[in-house]
Amino acid sequence: MFAIAEKVTIAQQLIIAFQKIVGEQFVFTDEESLINYSHDETETLSFLPSIVIKPRTAEEISSILTICNNERIPVTPRGAGTGLSGGALPHLGGVLLSTERMNSILEIDERNLQVITEPGVITEVLQDAVKAKRLFYPPDPSSRGSCFIGGNIAENSGGPKAVKYGVVKDYVLNLEVVLPTGEIIWTGANVLKNSTGYNLTQLIVGSEGTLGIVTKIVLKLIPLPKYDLLILVPFQSLEKAGEAVSAIFRAGFVPSALELVEIDALKIVSKMVDSYAVPIHDDIAAHLIIEVDGNNQEILMQEMEAISELLVEYDAGEIFFADDAQQKNELWKLRRRVAEAVKMAGYLIEEDTVVPRAELPALIKGVKELGVKNNFHAVCYGHAGDGNLHIRIKKEGVKDSMTDKGMIENLRELFKLVKKLGGTISGEHGIGLVQKEYMDIVFSEQHISLMKQIKKAFDPNNILNAGKIFN
Ligand code: LAC
Ligand code: ZN
Repeated sequence: MFAIAEKVTIAQQLIIAFQKIVGEQFVFTDEESLINYSHDETETLSFLPSIVIKPRTAEEISSILTICNNERIPVTPRGAGTGLSGGALPHLGGVLLSTERMNSILEIDERNLQVITEPGVITEVLQDAVKAKRLFYPPDPSSRGSCFIGGNIAENSGGPKAVKYGVVKDYVLNLEVVLPTGEIIWTGANVLKNSTGYNLTQLIVGSEGTLGIVTKIVLKLIPLPKYDLLILVPFQSLEKAGEAVSAIFRAGFVPSALELVEIDALKIVSKMVDSYAVPIHDDIAAHLIIEVDGNNQEILMQEMEAISELLVEYDAGEIFFADDAQQKNELWKLRRRVAEAVKMAGYLIEEDTVVPRAELPALIKGVKELGVKNNFHAVCYGHAGDGNLHIRIKKEGVKDSMTDKGMIENLRELFKLVKKLGGTISGEHGIGLVQKEYMDIVFSEQHISLMKQIKKAFDPNNILNAGKIFN
């Protein structure tokens, strides 16, 4: 099902102008291409663009945006289309601008521990390239095998390693950005400290393609830790698992990953990937996946033992130790594919709630109570160590969260709880199209108005990813 708010027709002479800029073979108006770029991974939403353009350089993007700005044509930038908040959905039609051809790693600077890359590089490809030089770029969304680094910048992505190493914003030093009016700027400098004026680099990170299109990215790298250990811990109570999470930090440990997966999610994903690496018993409610990393294996062993001992106090069951690389990979594969698996099982709506870590048990309890009260099924998983809980929702008859009034009410209730617990509505997926309805729960009118004024300063004619984050 395709919806177009208001069909934007691109005049033939403009199509010819776009072809002149990028080359005829990189401008698409055929139905198949339009359909391919009409959706991302958000629910079942789909909107046809009027035209798909695949530029190669910042200069080409500048020329395209200059035309679109003069002609007031909506432009939706897109990375790999793995987003979960609808940021890359061309809901107004117009130009869909894909960065997929801008896929070169330009330089790995081993002297300064930095990498300069284009936005269309797959995150895992970048991670592997720096790993070959014993360097580490930690942010690793579950979709790292297919998502683009540019999309990660747009959403300020996180992933399992964020709990120890931070999220994308903690690694971005400098960005080349094409502004909606066509100018090309660098936001900062390739330095580790910078107190020079407003921090436009960090403003662009997480701005979801509404302020400019990122065309070059300078990232900080760190030395690659030599060893890691991984355990899987079953719990009979979901809330106890949540309580154990903050206890680990209070006891003085900082795991390099601390993930939670509710048993229903594990059952579904195990079936999908046909892997039974993890024992699933009827009395298990959830598992924690805990990883520690560092350069001294003996110390890591001691740490893991101490964490395991502490977990006994939270009624943990028998701990499974991933012995080798294969077992570790198997476990991570299961974890990374949860979202995809539960979506296929009908849990179409994905929430990205985040609360202060110690409030996680209260959030989990609240979600389950709301599900019973409002007649929906919720399955929880995610980055427990960050208090970042993904909640996948299935409700009879509901296809998406944008058109169903009942679901909007249910989500408002959920987000009010999140706010009451001191949290917010997105930890790493962004607001995009599907969460903007709820911004008033977490921000005052004045706050939203400030954001809108920033948008206006960058994009006076509101052509770039308009209607994302706010109306
Ligand atoms: C994950 C994605 C959905 O944590 O954020 O798997
Ligand atoms: Zn996640």
